[in-house]
Amino acid sequence: MISVISKLPQTGTTIFTVMSALANEVDAINLSQGFPDYNCSPELIELVNNAMKNGHNQYAPMAGVMSLRERIAEKTENLYGAVYNPDTEITITAGCTQAIFTAISAVIHPNDEVIIFEPAFDCYAPAIKLMGGVVKSLALEPPNYRIAWDMVKRLVNQKTKMIILNSPHNPTATILHKEDIDELSALVKNQDILILSDEVYEHLIYDGETHHSVARYPELQQRSFIVASFGKPFHATGWKVGYCMAPAYLMHEFRKIHQFLVFSVNTPIQYAIAEHLKNEQTYLDLPEFFQQKRDYFRKGLEQTRFELLPCHGSYFQSVRYSAISDEKDADFVLRLTKEFGVAAIPVSAFYTKGIDHHVLRFCFAKRQETLDKAVDRLLKV
Ligand SMILES: Cc1ncc(COP(=O)(O)O)c(C=O)c1O
Repeated sequence: MISVISKLPQTGTTIFTVMSALANEVDAINLSQGFPDYNCSPELIELVNNAMKNGHNQYAPMAGVMSLRERIAEKTENLYGAVYNPDTEITITAGCTQAIFTAISAVIHPNDEVIIFEPAFDCYAPAIKLMGGVVKSLALEPPNYRIAWDMVKRLVNQKTKMIILNSPHNPTATILHKEDIDELSALVKNQDILILSDEVYEHLIYDGETHHSVARYPELQQRSFIVASFGKPFHATGWKVGYCMAPAYLMHEFRKIHQFLVFSVNTPIQYAIAEHLKNEQTYLDLPEFFQQKRDYFRKGLEQTRFELLPCHGSYFQSVRYSAISDEKDADFVLRLTKEFGVAAIPVSAFYTKGIDHHVLRFCFAKRQETLDKAVDRLLKV
């Protein structure tokens, strides 16, 4: 064997892969990884077929199919009042994960500090570290996981290059409020701090709440990469098509990396999504669709011994199990999967220091019968 110095010595296989594999192995109901167990719309599949039949099977332009970039620009302007130039400020990516990696690698240099809020989606920290950046994490606490902005202020110094936001939030299902935006705006004013805003769950927001996209706030928008995905809104996580929006000076750097990372993304799916987006109901109907699932699942869980944490957005429901067991969440979740047949994600996996508040995350983007079965099993715990 040739000796290799690992670039990520502390990193193992992601918890999503581990839990999904275990769920398959023991035939458990898989509420761990964030994907639906129902199909995406037949119209969308038809649109992909048509795009293929019409010969859209070769490389797309490096930045993405123009009609898709135009639809994204229109949607963003309609929803958030922000104008992005599809030619210079929007790039189609291989899912949001690639957009996140590309944005971080485009601007983070060795020793730059990046502030993240934990629990955090698991690809942020490794991307920062690979670029030689330093992860400055602020641990948030259940049940509300609110950001204490005075603590953020204490983390900011000359080396702070970026703050990563994620709203609606995976795994905690919290959302940013206008007060958070005001605090953030005051904090970054006159500072050379960029923002990476992960908005993959922008349309999965409930109870009439507003999605505070950073696109709405010009002083934030000017310093932000906004990243998103079509996998979540269109129930097609396996297609791995997403995008990044940023002012031209940032997008210029983003594309320098993008062109050598993937060059371009799946062509027929881009044509199909561009067509699908013409009907704005495809995304405007999503809050109601998912809120019904959230309410149904929460009602079921209320009968169990798990303590429900708030869920304002995303398709995740977190629960505390302190009344049931004092096992570590990583141990408890294994037992839950093997003995009771329901797989979840232990939230400690989203903290770099493995902080364990005895909280598990369930994904409720599932058919009603799947949720029923899961609740039946959870009632036995
Ligand atoms: C917060 C967050 N960001 C990014 C992603 C990745 O999205 P994609 O599958 O489009 O790469 C996910 C997927 O679960 C997510 O939850």
